[in-house]
Amino acid sequence: MNSDKHKFLTVSAAFFLSMISLIAAFDSLDPNGKIEIKWDVMYWTADGYVATVTITNSQTYRHITSPGWTLGWVWAKREVIWSMQGAEATDQGDCSTFPETIPHSCKRDPSVVDLLPGAPYNKQVAMCCKGGVLTSWGQDPSSAVSAFQLTVGRSGSSNKTVRLPKNFTLYGPGLGYTCGQAKIAPSSAFYSSDGRRKTNALMTWNVMCSYSQFLASETPTCCLSMSSFYNSKITPCKACACGCQDRATCILSESDHQSVTALNAPTNDSAPLLQCTIHNCPIQVHWHVKENYKGYWRVKITISNLNYRFNYSQWTLVVEHPNFNNTVEVYSFVHKPLTPFISKNDTALFHGLKSFNDVLLQAGPNGNVYSEMIFQKDSTFTLEQGWAFPRKVYFDGDECVMPFPDSYPFLPNLANANPILLSTLACILLPIFLTLLS
Ligand SMILES: *[C@@H]1O[C@H](CO)[C@@H](O)[C@H](O)[C@H]1NC(C)=O
Ligand SMILES: *[C@@H]1O[C@H](CO)[C@@H](O)[C@H](O)[C@H]1NC(C)=O
Ligand SMILES: *[C@@H]1O[C@H](CO)[C@@H](O)[C@H](O)[C@H]1NC(C)=O
Ligand SMILES: *[C@@H]1O[C@H](CO)[C@@H](O)[C@H](O)[C@H]1NC(C)=O
Ligand SMILES: *[C@@H]1O[C@H](CO)[C@@H](O)[C@H](O)[C@H]1NC(C)=O
Ligand SMILES: *[C@@H]1O[C@H](CO)[C@@H](O)[C@H](O)[C@H]1NC(C)=O
Repeated sequence: MNSDKHKFLTVSAAFFLSMISLIAAFDSLDPNGKIEIKWDVMYWTADGYVATVTITNSQTYRHITSPGWTLGWVWAKREVIWSMQGAEATDQGDCSTFPETIPHSCKRDPSVVDLLPGAPYNKQVAMCCKGGVLTSWGQDPSSAVSAFQLTVGRSGSSNKTVRLPKNFTLYGPGLGYTCGQAKIAPSSAFYSSDGRRKTNALMTWNVMCSYSQFLASETPTCCLSMSSFYNSKITPCKACACGCQDRATCILSESDHQSVTALNAPTNDSAPLLQCTIHNCPIQVHWHVKENYKGYWRVKITISNLNYRFNYSQWTLVVEHPNFNNTVEVYSFVHKPLTPFISKNDTALFHGLKSFNDVLLQAGPNGNVYSEMIFQKDSTFTLEQGWAFPRKVYFDGDECVMPFPDSYPFLPNLANANPILLSTLACILLPIFLTLLS
């Protein structure tokens, strides 16, 4: 009774703590991760300016996946966009008051998307045209930046008349980002390709956008399951970890999937179509403690995609475990230590190998990627108390729901050893007892 109550309290406390960490935008493993949007006014025109807008993803392990970012804002006055290079406004709006040259967009609150790869050369600018996909900074800084150029009219052409746009929004691609106000910043400097000439933007402002998992999705999107060589029991993901399943809309088996997709061919692509599971998560990460050698131990990590409607390209996995300071070998994944705190080196970033397993394919026979890794043991190594299992796991920057601590695979303990111990004792003690009696 008492222990049940205790368990309940521990569980509710854990739940509360996880809710708090979800609500707060602050990410302790990536405290400075943000997306910065920088506007550099390159030159003035008769009625406005030409600006280069740069979007930089400095988040260590959260990327912007296909179908890419959408950037929006509200003009402070009655500005229009005459033209755009490297991106486009999704809606032209009402340009009927312009009889001759028609602007690219007359909307007060334009939404801009990146051009697709292979856009015509005369529409490109440097760092554009990636379909809005940005890798995380930790994965590949050279692909974590996107840029476009726009010609703005009716803004006035001096730094006294220009008003900064307001209410920036960033979809990446869904909800999740909140952007602050645009702020005047020191003018950016640009260098010619030979590095011999430096120029400055005429005016620069920037906007910072930060991510909150709670805003992105009401329910978590990933869960962790576990197993070990020393216990045949598999610890499944927590039931309803990502919400409870609607049996009518999930897929029971591969043959079921084929008939369903054939039946309702024109489906709503943005809604997930999940395999039926107790946890209802689109992503399941499985940690298997595979072997225990003398000085080393081995783990296998498998990531499974349970959504039939989504391929995760350029996926990332972040895992916190105290033995990551002593990683000997990681197979099949790219591995980088993350050191958010200099004093601790217990977190690692993993991603796929280019054109081998950097895309986690939709649910089905190929819908998983896996890796094995070997750690060197140090004095802290133990198979007890769930030490061999990770402390935290993030997939694509979203935290995975862990199983309840009391459901972790346990070492066969004394309760199991007792019968042997007792019979051994009996074998030793019985003859003594009998001799004493005689
Ligand atoms: C505007 O330009 C003038 C002259 O170049 C400069 O002195 C001033 O600091 C600028 N103001 C802003 C807000 O950038
Ligand atoms: C801009 O955002 C502010 C604060 O969120 C809001 O009050 C205002 O209505 C928004 N303006 C427009 C034009 O959307
Ligand atoms: C598709 O699904 C999304 C999200 O589930 C929903 O907002 C949208 O209205 C749906 N569209 C159609 C055409 O059913
Ligand atoms: C995922 O990728 C595979 C292989 O490139 C493709 O056949 C499939 O249609 C894609 N699925 C989705 C939902 O985009
Ligand atoms: C962290 O651990 C990794 C893996 O053992 C090692 O390669 C790296 O140098 C360590 N970094 C620091 C800052 O200690
Ligand atoms: C790894 O960290 C543990 C403490 O968490 C420490 O005892 C051990 O010496 C460290 N190993 C290395 C190789 O830094």
